[in-house]
Amino acid sequence: VGQNLIKLKEVDSTNNYLKNLASNSEPLPEGTVIMADNQFAGRGQQESVWQTEAGKNISTSIYLKPSFLAIKKQFYLNIAVSLAVADALSYFLPLAVAVKWPNDIYYNRKKLGGILIENSLTGTTIKSAVIGIGLNINQQVFKSDLAEKATSVFQILHKELDLELVMEKIFVYIEKYYLNLKSEKYSILHSNYLKKLLYFDLEANYIHNGQVFEGKIKGVEESGYLIMEVDNQIKNFNFKEIEYIHT
Ligand code: BTN
Repeated sequence: VGQNLIKLKEVDSTNNYLKNLASNSEPLPEGTVIMADNQFAGRGQQESVWQTEAGKNISTSIYLKPSFLAIKKQFYLNIAVSLAVADALSYFLPLAVAVKWPNDIYYNRKKLGGILIENSLTGTTIKSAVIGIGLNINQQVFKSDLAEKATSVFQILHKELDLELVMEKIFVYIEKYYLNLKSEKYSILHSNYLKKLLYFDLEANYIHNGQVFEGKIKGVEESGYLIMEVDNQIKNFNFKEIEYIHT
């Protein structure tokens, strides 16, 4: 990962750029990485926008070809990438980095970054995957609506980090977890993911269909569904169906 590295000053979205590159210049080497100082149309999960201060943060996309991975196991790619990014950041930070289901990166209950994986499928397996990673590294302040929910490495360490150094760590850990995935170490990946999962087995407040409730995360299904205990009952939630409330 990172042998073929393309650095851009500005792009709409590194995910879009990489997807276009892959479709126009097949075969694109696996492990190709796009990095941009600035994105003017960065995209987040669930059709949201992803905006960060230019030149201060990591906006990157990594091209993988997990053709060994069955579509029904595709959530393991989210797991592997979330663990890799959390481990890479943990290297620089004093306290544990958590993963908020499905794949947000959290520190001290605030969002440090997010991951947007876009798969292209063929038959029953994944043909290629664009792994988009956005991390708040050297940004010092956030707009008022984000200030409560977001954090950055700078806000934690009070010093700037070299973005390239962070990228190198990300490459190392993506390779590590990608190899785990390739060698079908599903149960290790799954249990490591639960260990890092924000509020795993702890009471917290969530919102579903406009209703606030208290619940406990008990696990994650292979499909990626979240398993929760609410009022002594087990309930499963799909992506988009539930949101954790910052308290
Ligand atoms: C989220 O938290 O909703 C996911 C955010 C993902 C942002 C990254 S930045 C690099 C890549 N290009 C994009 O347009 N989005 C991802």
